[in-house]
Amino acid sequence: MKTTVFFLAIVWLLPRRVQGQTQDQVDALYKTLVNGHKKNTRPAVNHSFPTEVNVSFSLFQLVDVDEAMGKLSISGQLIMEWYDHRMSWNPIDYGGVNTITVPSSATWKPDLVLTEPIDNAIAFGHAFGHMQSWVTVRYLYDGKAIFAPAGVISSVCNISVYLYPFDEHECVINLFPWGMNKQEIVLNTNTTQLLNISIFSEDPEWILDRNETSTGVMFDNIFCYRVVLYLIRRSAFVTTNIIVPMYFLVILNAMVFVIPASSEERVTCAMTVLLAMAFFMTVVHDTLPKVSDPTPRICTVIMCYLLLSALIAIMTIINLRISKLSEGDGEKVLNNNWKIWKNWKNWNNWKKASVVIDIICGVGCFAWVSGSGIAMYVYVSRNR
Ligand SMILES: *[C@@H]1O[C@H](CO)[C@@H](O)[C@H](O)[C@H]1NC(C)=O
Ligand SMILES: *[C@@H]1O[C@H](CO)[C@@H](O)[C@H](O)[C@H]1NC(C)=O
Ligand SMILES: *[C@@H]1O[C@H](CO)[C@@H](O)[C@H](O)[C@H]1NC(C)=O
Ligand SMILES: *[C@@H]1O[C@H](CO)[C@@H](O)[C@H](O)[C@H]1NC(C)=O
Ligand SMILES: *[C@@H]1O[C@H](CO)[C@@H](O)[C@H](O)[C@H]1NC(C)=O
Ligand SMILES: *[C@@H]1O[C@H](CO)[C@@H](O)[C@H](O)[C@H]1NC(C)=O
Repeated sequence: MKTTVFFLAIVWLLPRRVQGQTQDQVDALYKTLVNGHKKNTRPAVNHSFPTEVNVSFSLFQLVDVDEAMGKLSISGQLIMEWYDHRMSWNPIDYGGVNTITVPSSATWKPDLVLTEPIDNAIAFGHAFGHMQSWVTVRYLYDGKAIFAPAGVISSVCNISVYLYPFDEHECVINLFPWGMNKQEIVLNTNTTQLLNISIFSEDPEWILDRNETSTGVMFDNIFCYRVVLYLIRRSAFVTTNIIVPMYFLVILNAMVFVIPASSEERVTCAMTVLLAMAFFMTVVHDTLPKVSDPTPRICTVIMCYLLLSALIAIMTIINLRISKLSEGDGEKVLNNNWKIWKNWKNWNNWKKASVVIDIICGVGCFAWVSGSGIAMYVYVSRNR
């Protein structure tokens, strides 16, 4: 058994040994291909026809989504394939060598550039100022070239945080061959096999909902390759850490009207909740995107809650004064100063008035709070 395996292995290896791709042969091939290669002219057998380049994109990760700057950064690999007849050879002449890699700086390649870059406009596979010479182009013996530089792309993306944290965005990344019109370069992509996300790592903040890739003509004259990403924000963090606690704070605030009107503690209680809410607001502001145009709707909601809390504190203070009128203190004040009130000495009326105010305010607050809760729930479930 062992001998059979050994024998098979030898047989399998033999043809390779016989073909013998020696260092000299590979060096000779490299020299033949690269020396005299005109890297500044595009490859085409007949220059009446454009060079066809097949493009596809592998998304690795969302790197950064900056709402304030309107920027989307993704890392990925752009795979370009084309035929360069000048780089073809007969493998038999070179001991069976059927593929070779050549530094990208030594050969022609399509320079794809972002249409809306955040940083300097650089062709994919180039570094700042100079070429990334370690990025290689792989050639097959029939002249097929495969160039697959990877890196981070930062493109402009219009991000409206109006619906934060339930917002969705459509970001378009456009790449076009710099300086080449549609008579010179044609971009193709396989639209049945879209963006390759097989090695995409999920983002903790965003869900990649859909994706589209296509090629098309832009400005009537230039082919462009377009990747569209539909992003949905994961709202669980903001919901559990901001919206729900804020909501319970408002319910707690409305409970003030359940405390007896004559008790001074209710003012303390109302004030404490108001302070807690103001403190909470500073915490909230740290997590919100710092954008004013448009202001996120959640800011308006929090503002309304703070306003309600302040109104509750004011009503509590006024009502405390009114309920005190039904006691001796109020009687003295009115007797001495406000003659107009003299005829109306039924202090029980004040007590009743304070209870009525409490009921109206309490019911009003609870109605408002539950109403806003239901509205938020309906709004969120409709947007999901
Ligand atoms: C290139 O293509 C054009 C259009 O088909 C044709 O007229 C021309 O003869 C071709 N040139 C060569 C060198 O084959
Ligand atoms: C580009 O794609 C087309 C259609 O799938 C295919 O016929 C062609 O051979 C591809 N070109 C390269 C260089 O892979
Ligand atoms: C960004 O989006 C807003 C609202 O959708 C729109 O009014 C504005 O024109 C857009 N800006 C750009 C540069 O697309
Ligand atoms: C596009 O990709 C699909 C899936 O990989 C493949 O089956 C199909 O042949 C490709 N189409 C072209 C034109 O290359
Ligand atoms: C997608 O990318 C993975 C990893 O690079 C690769 O193995 C796979 O063949 C690609 N899928 C297609 C359809 O190109
Ligand atoms: C990208 O689009 C393809 C085709 O519609 C789909 O199969 C794939 O799941 C999409 N990727 C994501 C992350 O939604």
